[in-house]
Amino acid sequence: MPLDRFGRNINYLRISVIDHCNFRCVYCMPLDTSQYVPSSQLLTPVEIERVVRAAAGVGFEKIRLTGGEPTLRSDLLEIVDRIARVDGIRDVSMTTNGVLLPRLAKPLADAGLNRVNLHIDSLDPQRFAKVMRFGTLSEAWAGLEAAECAGLTPIKINAVVVRDYNEQDVVELARLTIDKPWTIRFIELMPLGNNECARLAKDNFVSSADSMRRIEEALGTLAPVDNPNEADESVNYRLADAEGIVGFISPVSEPYCGTCNRMRLTADGRFHLCLLNDDELDVRAALRGDGGDAEVREILIKAVQAKPTGHRLHEGISTAQRSMFQIGG
Ligand code: 5AD
Ligand code: SF4
Repeated sequence: MPLDRFGRNINYLRISVIDHCNFRCVYCMPLDTSQYVPSSQLLTPVEIERVVRAAAGVGFEKIRLTGGEPTLRSDLLEIVDRIARVDGIRDVSMTTNGVLLPRLAKPLADAGLNRVNLHIDSLDPQRFAKVMRFGTLSEAWAGLEAAECAGLTPIKINAVVVRDYNEQDVVELARLTIDKPWTIRFIELMPLGNNECARLAKDNFVSSADSMRRIEEALGTLAPVDNPNEADESVNYRLADAEGIVGFISPVSEPYCGTCNRMRLTADGRFHLCLLNDDELDVRAALRGDGGDAEVREILIKAVQAKPTGHRLHEGISTAQRSMFQIGG
């Protein structure tokens, strides 16, 4: 079990496989982004598999693929197939905007993907497009249905709440859980990078407490639900007689660093030690050098040991070097 300096069991690796995205949500990806990781610097499926083997070797059990938008990787099926076969990995999931799932959900499930998280910030087509810019609600919805049909369940939906964009939509999103066995999680905006997204996150912040109040006023009491996974960053509730769950992820108003169980790998092969800090350790050079898998394992152990705790969002300080689309949440 890879315990870090703070006694946290780090067993969950989030792998960003690409930094492109076809949506460019207002809080994640600036419109003028033009500098992407060149494909020669992206980790290959074999390199990703080697990192996952090293991770499984020191006790990691859960893998999540993120981006940008992971389905834009043309070799995604090979990546999933390789990591799903690694001994010791018991859960492979993916965070996606869902647009390509009508084509990919079934092959991904066949390759070994267990489940997906989708983001849907609004059920109103106009407001959806205002937040998720190049996406449309009908495409995202088709992706959700394809995921469910392919058995990529339990389905979780993420919604980032942004003042003046979609703060009223928490009610209709939460209402979905009455009839559907889905988990809808509302995420507080985090300012990452030095760009317009970070500025928006600071100016248009909505607290989870505000979203919760809005939902309860419209739909009744949210009763707390025990969470069997203590490292789950979401605090979960259920509406009366609802099939699904309403969760709140509150990194800004209620930091959960104490139970953080994650390590992140960027698309260009660096361990990013904490979402909200800049510290990174390069592993790509080791993957492409002579040190072999022993060196990869050593770097991962070092990364776990160096993982910080405590962010400084309350002082307005966060990851400056990377934006969300370059880390994958
Ligand atoms: N703050 C909070 N959540 C964000 N996401 C993207 N950018 C931000 C941000 N600035 C969310 C996406 C996705 C997950 C990976 O992170 O909605 O669901
Ligand atoms: Fe793309 Fe997801 Fe970022 Fe939106 S949140 S821009 S869909 S990576």
